[in-house]
Amino acid sequence: MVVLTTAFITCAKFHCRSSIAAANLLLVSASHSRACAPPRGPLLRRRIDKVSLRSIAMATTQASEAEADKGLPLGMDATMVDEYASQSKLLQEFVKIPSCGKAWIFNSKDENTSRAVVSIGQSDLLGNKRRKFLLNSHISKSASKSVDFHWSPFPTEISGVSAVIPSPSGEKLLLVRNSEDDSPTKLEIWGSCQLKNEIHIAKSVHGSLYTDEWFEGISWNQEETFVAYVAEEPPQPKPVFNDYGFKKEGSSEKDCKSWKGQGDWEETWGETYSKKRIPALFVVNISSGEVRPVKGIPRSLSVGQVIWAPSPSYGLVFVAWSSDNGFQHTPRKLGIKYCYNRPCALYAAPHPFREEAEKPSTEGDKGETTTMIKLTADLNSAFFPRFSPDGKYLVFISAKSAVDSGAHNATNSMHRIEWPTDGKLDGSLGVADVVPIVMCPKENCFPGLYCFGLLRDPWLTDGRTMILSSVWGSKEVVLSINVVSCEVLRVSPQDSDCSWNVLALDKNDILAVSSSLITLPQIYYGIKVSQIESHWEWQEVSTPLPKLSDEISSILSEHKFSILKVPISNLSDKLADGAKLPFEAIFVSHKDSASNPTIVVLHGGPHSVYPSSYSKSLAFLFSQGYNLLVVNYRGSLGFGEEALQSLPGNIGSQDVNDVLTALDLVIRRGLIDPSKVAVVGGSHGGFLTTHLIGQAPDTFVAAAARNPVCNLQLMVGTTDIPDWCFVEIYGKEGKKYFSESPSVDDLCQFHQKSPISHISKVKTPTLFLLGAQDLRVPVSNGLQYARALKERGIESKTIVFPEDIHGIDKPQSDFESFLNIGVWFKKHLSK
Ligand SMILES: *[C@@H]1O[C@H](CO)[C@@H](O)[C@H](O)[C@H]1NC(C)=O
Ligand SMILES: *[C@@H]1O[C@H](CO)[C@@H](O)[C@H](O)[C@H]1NC(C)=O
Ligand SMILES: *[C@@H]1O[C@H](CO)[C@@H](O)[C@H](O)[C@H]1NC(C)=O
Ligand SMILES: *[C@@H]1O[C@H](CO)[C@@H](O)[C@H](O)[C@H]1NC(C)=O
Repeated sequence: MVVLTTAFITCAKFHCRSSIAAANLLLVSASHSRACAPPRGPLLRRRIDKVSLRSIAMATTQASEAEADKGLPLGMDATMVDEYASQSKLLQEFVKIPSCGKAWIFNSKDENTSRAVVSIGQSDLLGNKRRKFLLNSHISKSASKSVDFHWSPFPTEISGVSAVIPSPSGEKLLLVRNSEDDSPTKLEIWGSCQLKNEIHIAKSVHGSLYTDEWFEGISWNQEETFVAYVAEEPPQPKPVFNDYGFKKEGSSEKDCKSWKGQGDWEETWGETYSKKRIPALFVVNISSGEVRPVKGIPRSLSVGQVIWAPSPSYGLVFVAWSSDNGFQHTPRKLGIKYCYNRPCALYAAPHPFREEAEKPSTEGDKGETTTMIKLTADLNSAFFPRFSPDGKYLVFISAKSAVDSGAHNATNSMHRIEWPTDGKLDGSLGVADVVPIVMCPKENCFPGLYCFGLLRDPWLTDGRTMILSSVWGSKEVVLSINVVSCEVLRVSPQDSDCSWNVLALDKNDILAVSSSLITLPQIYYGIKVSQIESHWEWQEVSTPLPKLSDEISSILSEHKFSILKVPISNLSDKLADGAKLPFEAIFVSHKDSASNPTIVVLHGGPHSVYPSSYSKSLAFLFSQGYNLLVVNYRGSLGFGEEALQSLPGNIGSQDVNDVLTALDLVIRRGLIDPSKVAVVGGSHGGFLTTHLIGQAPDTFVAAAARNPVCNLQLMVGTTDIPDWCFVEIYGKEGKKYFSESPSVDDLCQFHQKSPISHISKVKTPTLFLLGAQDLRVPVSNGLQYARALKERGIESKTIVFPEDIHGIDKPQSDFESFLNIGVWFKKHLSK
């Protein structure tokens, strides 16, 4: 009874400050808290239910602050309980909204109808996973060029499925079921109404298939008899020991008298690939279920993105990355996720089931009896291969500028190879440019190609025009690129600030999705109006996606946004022309309330971008009554190569200045209250956040950093991309200085240009959200900085997510992160 009373007083303390609605949350937390131990939930609740609010208020005055915090969940601030309750409710509303992933369109015999399948994802907070389901629709076009979608009444959930790959004719569907334990990988081949074949592939053949959208390649041949794919190479056996010592004949049998050692440690491709070692190439005969590896690929190459070549004697075309990265031939793999600067090339190899077929010549690779042929010998980067429908051209993307400069992302180029009609590859294939790198875009003109994925079949019916998504300033746009005439056109509407992404093609028509920071994704169907002109008319497609709650739709409709051009504040002659152009910032504000506090939002990379597309997390933030200033500082994607390359060598100063310049602009225009500004960012955005609170200590009243880079000196020895530190600190030269054992001078530079060197000036209360499994910016970076703030008596709060990696994107972690950002800002901005 004594225990109960203590608990009661403890719980009551914040009752008086909270609404009755919040009391519920309070009671639940009390019943789980240590102060109420042993937890006797039901009993406690009954007791408290009887207490009137008046007596609670009386009890409050007797309870001390310290006692009050004891009754709360770990880290919860007694004054913010109401905020937790109301913000978590709203955030759940945002999290529940389903989002549209991929789409496929299947043509039918009738030229005016087709069918679409759209994959939808929805976060499942309780299960801490994303549910995926498929929605079907019948598409019919009428004489008046209007289009109708007839959706099936319910979606079908696909669980345990890692990839869905329809065959080229649309008559078969491959489902990949990767296993998480030691059970075999399953491939299922479905017909229109039945499971046709189920193929079980033992771990001794290969591990799970790559479905990571980078190494990933799962490809049907034209006859639909074979599927080529990328899967984890089977592990080499580990050494086995028993009572007599080392067992020479490593046996795979389990017996209780022996144990397995570790063997040598193997390099991985870093962040998000910690459990993968070597992606390798396989082909399966889908009627017999027989799997064969593609032979002759050296173990030092990792492969991906496989497709089938049209000519008979060469089966496959794929991308390969060398494990030494070409980076001074460092004998290690460097992290590859988000990093387009890893050298790679296209190769061709014969179909492993047609070994009797003509062997390719091995010219060029003197002495080596490899059956592989390198197709892009003169380029240090080539990926996303696609054959034109007639097999005449092999088209691909290159990030050669990223490889050359060492920047982890840069402006892409597009190229084509004329594929030999006789199928004889002799290594002398010429590579022609289709889209060059744009150095300094002219006003309102194409800023260059920034493409991070291609449709499986990106072609219009002319067989020469590709449709793809790219970044253009702060917007995502849909482009058409004629690979022969090299004409590039923007086909998504030009008069809106929305972002557009292509989902699928319906012959010459385009299924796309459009959204903005204040409008949820909406599917559109673009009809090509004339066969000659490249012009599409866009119609909104009605979908069965659920209606928004009144609360969310009114929040979104009460806001507006605009894309601001920010002139450079410090024009120096040293800058390239493209780096003198204005950069952009997106400003989101309430339509009526001009006095709201402002949050500056910063992307990572630094070579990535915050496009104008819908973001659940940003919508949640502005819905709390804030303006957002999303700064695409120089170095971001979408503004040409010179602007991008102006940043490496100047991080911590040029980017910091750009952010302050953008902030100045909105202050000078009277758009915001300069005394109420906060800042949030992750990764390089966290680097900027922590730099800003150190370099401009009077500007920000609160900050939040997700897996921030705070100390490059510490990061360089622990990250999966130490080359990033050298390139971003020294610029292009950094590639030359890169070493696994940095000199004292290097470490000194790294320290000087890190946020931690400004820590003595910091006054801003800062929240840290850290993923303990992050290999990119290891948790030690954020923890060290947070502890250093604490040492100086600066208010801070740290949440570490034990299972999360760099993105902190597990549904529960993402939820808790943004909830805490919301509450942290409310606490410090409403003072
Ligand atoms: C398809 O639509 C066009 C134009 O509306 C019409 O001329 C044609 O006859 C239609 N085809 C079929 C098979 O209905
Ligand atoms: C694929 O499997 C089928 C069924 O077992 C067999 O008839 C066919 O010959 C196989 N194809 C090749 C090229 O091995
Ligand atoms: C202006 O830019 C130049 C070169 O880009 C740099 O050296 C200088 O420090 C900058 N000045 C300020 C005040 O940021
Ligand atoms: C490269 O750009 C892509 C697309 O914006 C982004 O997802 C990725 O994080 C970027 N990588 C780096 C290292 O900036």
